[in-house]
Amino acid sequence: MKLLYRQADYRDVDALFEVRSKTRENPISKARLAEMGITHSSIVEGFELGQLYGRVCLDGKAVIGFCIGDIESGEVLVLAVLPNYEGKGIGRQLLGRVVEELKEQGHHAPWLAADRNAAVRAHGFYRRLGWVPTGQMLENGDEILVLDGPN
Ligand SMILES: CC(C)(COP(=O)(O)OP(=O)(O)OC[C@H]1O[C@@H](n2cnc3c(N)ncnc32)[C@H](O)[C@@H]1OP(=O)(O)O)[C@@H](O)C(=O)NCCC(=O)NCCS
Repeated sequence: MKLLYRQADYRDVDALFEVRSKTRENPISKARLAEMGITHSSIVEGFELGQLYGRVCLDGKAVIGFCIGDIESGEVLVLAVLPNYEGKGIGRQLLGRVVEELKEQGHHAPWLAADRNAAVRAHGFYRRLGWVPTGQMLENGDEILVLDGPN
């Protein structure tokens, strides 16, 4: 398997929605995202205006994972890897590059909101990579984590 990582752009947006809807855990449909105000055009606009920074991982021509950070707030908005590609270091690589970019843009403590359920993979994944819960919660019950340390 030869994987390629690169910055995400407008060409990838359909595939990003596809991947987000097909994760093994926490899948989110395009319709649900639209209810949250996240649409094809909002993502394209975010990339073009430089408000969003994304990385994709490709297997051949297919996007199999991605991560997006919000340059203004310092939040990691989304990280998703397709089921067959979990456990290969792809999530770590994607997240690491987006965090690097957020730091370069002046966010010394990038943050994210994640499922509090310890049974989901993301729970242990973020802790393994040095993310620490702040004790703050979103209205939907997700917990806020910040990156602690040099990762
Ligand atoms: C969470 C997710 C992004 C992880 O991606 P991944 O590519 O499978 O993770 P990686 O292979 O890069 O794992 C990185 C490290 O975390 C470790 N890790 C992963 N899950 C872990 C867990 N639950 N507990 C402890 N360590 C864990 C791995 O063993 C690996 O450690 P190593 O580098 O020392 O070997 C992926 O499972 C996913 O897309 N889940 C569905 C969507 C989701 O929940 N996204 C996050 C919330 S928006």
